[in-house]
Amino acid sequence: MINKKIFGHLENGCEVNLYSLKNKCGTTAEIINYGACVKSINVENNIGNFEDVVLGYDTLDEYINDKFYFGATVGRYANRIAFSKFSLNGTEYKLNSNDGNNHLHGGLIGFNKVLWNSHVFQTEQGSSVKLEYLSKDGEENYPGNLKLSVLFTLTDKNEIIIKYEGVTDEQTILNMTNHSYFNLSGNLSQTILEHELFLNSESFTPVNKSLIPTGEIKSILNTPLDFLQRTQIGLRINDDYEQIKLAKGFDHNWIINNYQKEKIRMAATVYEPQSGRIMEVFTDQPGLQFYSGNFLRDTIIGKNGTKYNYRSAFCLEAQHYPDSPNQPEFPSVVLNPGELYKQKTIYKFSTIKNN
Ligand code: GLA
Repeated sequence: MINKKIFGHLENGCEVNLYSLKNKCGTTAEIINYGACVKSINVENNIGNFEDVVLGYDTLDEYINDKFYFGATVGRYANRIAFSKFSLNGTEYKLNSNDGNNHLHGGLIGFNKVLWNSHVFQTEQGSSVKLEYLSKDGEENYPGNLKLSVLFTLTDKNEIIIKYEGVTDEQTILNMTNHSYFNLSGNLSQTILEHELFLNSESFTPVNKSLIPTGEIKSILNTPLDFLQRTQIGLRINDDYEQIKLAKGFDHNWIINNYQKEKIRMAATVYEPQSGRIMEVFTDQPGLQFYSGNFLRDTIIGKNGTKYNYRSAFCLEAQHYPDSPNQPEFPSVVLNPGELYKQKTIYKFSTIKNN
């Protein structure tokens, strides 16, 4: 079931739509075509109550002013590019800096700050919203006209499937993700420290103090970044460990096991014991940025006046490794004319019911 309504208008008069998808289980997901954002996901808890499990806002103006990427589609380059520059075929491209000297999440006007064309349809798999956007040559100083689409599908198996595609007319780089902030407890101001996390990963890319990868690949064994056994997020989040201190918590790229182009595998599972909710993440991407909401503050007011406190949500952003354009050893993010960029990530919800 799909319902469409007007969410608001941009300064130039353009209409922004809000799409509500609902499946047979009663699960709902709301998508807006400004920033291709996921606005809400309502999932049942262990006693049958549906509650919202993602951070976001009530109004378009708040999305326009947002600095946290709540629910947003991120690009052209998700995460950081060191010193906001990279080279392709001997040409250096200088991007806009918006994180100190570095380029973060697409720059000053990333995909999260533009209006996407949208249409809806129903397939055997479920209800879908397809969002399309043309990122013009030179946008944020990236080369190439890039035609993009993001397809959100809510299935009757409580999956939110996100499929991205892109084609370019000139060699460029592309790395897209979704930046939803989850709190499976249903109480969006409560910390996520009691959520239990499994990450299908044996190594990560250590960072420097600007959260730029050093280029090294490090084993997670014997470090607080080991989530191979399901572990409470809060257990080691304040450990006296250099990588944790640099990031003020978890904010790293885990290398997901068994990367093979376009092959989907499980990347993470999160369990919230109070509500019984579980979220599984599947992706074809090589990396997963697990961010424990270290920049959230009680001054951020979201839906229904809720305060988005420090560490009241986490992100699991499926993507290529940060700063890949400057790290020849990392899987490539170059997109050539004639090639099709594809990324597919699934967030699957379930609940362990009481009695
Ligand atoms: C990503 C980054 C974080 C932070 C958030 C947005 O998860 O890794 O460092 O920039 O986005 O606030």
